[in-house]
Amino acid sequence: MDWISFYDFKHSVIYVNTRHRDVHYRTIAEDIHKYIPSPAAHVLDYGCGEATSADLVAAACRQLMLAEAAPNVRASLTMRYAGHPKIAVITSEQAAALPKASFDLIVMHSVAQYLSESELERVLAMFRALLKPGGLLVLGDIVPPHFAAPSAAFALLRFGAANGFFWAAAGGLMRIFVSDYPRLRKTVGLSHYSEAAVQAKLTRAGFTAERAARNIGHNQRRMTFLARPA
Ligand SMILES: C[S@@+](CC[C@H](N)C(=O)[O-])C[C@H]1O[C@@H](n2cnc3c(N)ncnc32)[C@H](O)[C@@H]1O
Repeated sequence: MDWISFYDFKHSVIYVNTRHRDVHYRTIAEDIHKYIPSPAAHVLDYGCGEATSADLVAAACRQLMLAEAAPNVRASLTMRYAGHPKIAVITSEQAAALPKASFDLIVMHSVAQYLSESELERVLAMFRALLKPGGLLVLGDIVPPHFAAPSAAFALLRFGAANGFFWAAAGGLMRIFVSDYPRLRKTVGLSHYSEAAVQAKLTRAGFTAERAARNIGHNQRRMTFLARPA
């Protein structure tokens, strides 16, 4: 098993219930919305997951491409947004094959931790090619080294308390603890980066980058970076 198959369940164990999943994706969509530069923008959300609020993002741009590697998640996205005039669902390979300079905004949120360093370098190079001059890459939810698991657990409990699913969050943490997640952490691993390490990677990939004041989503110990073609 790898991280893509871990996320390829109809209802990922990572969301403690439907309310958690929907509040999670609505929060992310509202945060992405703030980065859309104009109603004419072409936007790519790479590793979008279940993206249950992608229509909020699509409402503010011309076209939204949702790239998702996990086949069952992709099938459910395709069903959810079938007939939506602005949303297209594609594979990671299809994203890589798109024409250069296709997008004004590319978002990759909460995916970098599941990529090896060389995979991250490869997608950054791909994003650099896919972004228009003056476009923006938003690289969100970068996990810093140290205390990643306890801080993620506390952030989930706080998010649950603020949104009416505290006890479900507590139960969900137990389920995650006995799921494949801890085993995959040990065998496949999770990638953690300091702020300086991400800045260096983005610079090497041809971007000028800064850390955003706030992370996208609910976990403010994690980091979002805003990067533009140098
Ligand atoms: C935590 S979810 C993030 C989903 C969404 N962006 C969000 O913020 O909620 C992690 C996503 O990373 C994707 N993923 C994991 N490994 C990947 C890989 N090697 N290449 C591309 N996507 C990957 C999974 O399919 C999953 O959709």
